[in-house]
Amino acid sequence: MTQKDLKEQAKKVLNANFNEDKGFTIPCEGLYPFQWNWDSGFIAIGYAHYDVNKAKREIEALLSAQWENGFLPHIVFHNDSDTYFPGADFHQSSLHPLASKTHKTTGMTQPPVLGFVLKEIYDIVEDKADMISFIKHNIDKVFHNHAHFYTHRDPNKEGLVYIYHNWESGTDNSPIWDDIWDTFTPPNYTFERMDTTHVDAAQRPTNREYDYYLNLIEIAKEYNYDDAKITELSPFLVQDPLFNAILIKSNAALIELYEIIGDSKEKIDILKAWQEKAITRFNEKLYNEKLGGYVHYDLRNEKQIEFLSSSSFTPLFAQIPDNARAERLMKNLTNKFKGNDKFLCSSFDPDSDRFNPKKYWRGPIWINLNWLLYKGLNNYKYKNLAETVKEDSITLIKRYGFYEYFDARKSITENAGYGGNNFSWSAALLLDLLKD
Ligand code: DGY
Repeated sequence: MTQKDLKEQAKKVLNANFNEDKGFTIPCEGLYPFQWNWDSGFIAIGYAHYDVNKAKREIEALLSAQWENGFLPHIVFHNDSDTYFPGADFHQSSLHPLASKTHKTTGMTQPPVLGFVLKEIYDIVEDKADMISFIKHNIDKVFHNHAHFYTHRDPNKEGLVYIYHNWESGTDNSPIWDDIWDTFTPPNYTFERMDTTHVDAAQRPTNREYDYYLNLIEIAKEYNYDDAKITELSPFLVQDPLFNAILIKSNAALIELYEIIGDSKEKIDILKAWQEKAITRFNEKLYNEKLGGYVHYDLRNEKQIEFLSSSSFTPLFAQIPDNARAERLMKNLTNKFKGNDKFLCSSFDPDSDRFNPKKYWRGPIWINLNWLLYKGLNNYKYKNLAETVKEDSITLIKRYGFYEYFDARKSITENAGYGGNNFSWSAALLLDLLKD
């Protein structure tokens, strides 16, 4: 298949998943029938390459559900659908007094990509003046979102924000969370899974894992999604390196964008102060010398969670490590995650006995993480390894299709694309990777 054909196919996937009426894109049909926060950011980057209007609508649809306190939810229920659980009626965002009055949403968030997404789109499009006016119109909403994090999600005022639910991480059922599940016992809920009607159950979380996911939401709901109560009482409180690296990268992008549009010195100063504190503390608290990578910090139980995952390398994207640490990350990626027999990049340490090559975030490759790593490695001039990440991503999609995730093992001969098919961010980010 030529690159031109592949690009056309990617556009077809995106266009088919776009809801013309409401102006947003579903991640994929059936499995994820609403608007997801970080999906939308990555999707908008894809649109910027051929239909900037759609990119703008995507971002505006997400921002239209922003809460009055700046919070941006992980799912916006613009539409009804009975193909997904848990839906709007379970999440009940209206429990929070400052929740969106116009949209039903969840009461949790996802990695805050919008800052860097705006900058990516600005760099991609030709009509800079038009993009500047779009950015002027929306940038303060993104700033407000970041301010919300530092005000309500950073109890030690150390520049690192927490997540209170595994779905906020984006890496939903990573083995990272297994030890946290050992610290509390949820009820055995009665509920009907919808995801396993779309996708082989072997590729999705277990029912018992869903009990934990639902229990964390029930606890947050009991306190009307009040941040202070969640800080005090949620059994899941984690400082995630991927989440914080994305926030830091988005802060940096906001600084650049405010400079481009002019006239917000006060906000630039605030952003610079956040950055200094955040990057310093990130390097002190989230680096694990023994493993040679960044790890998650369990804030509830006050300890590092000592595992390498694809999240461990994402600080490269935000230029957080110095050159010596970057070198160590690069060597780990090369020797441990790639070896001679694997595509990059497994979502979890392939040498760990918790690694599962087929199951959601317990091992398979995700195109959005690859995109972050491709950019991150280029930041440090590791051009060859960056090219490998890019070529592996293209090869997997060419070979298997626009799947949600992929088996890292090169020896697999059967279909090694898993989860949802015609998955929007795989298509969107492929378009970006193929641009040069
Ligand atoms: C899921 O897997 O359904 C989660 O909602 C993703 O955010």
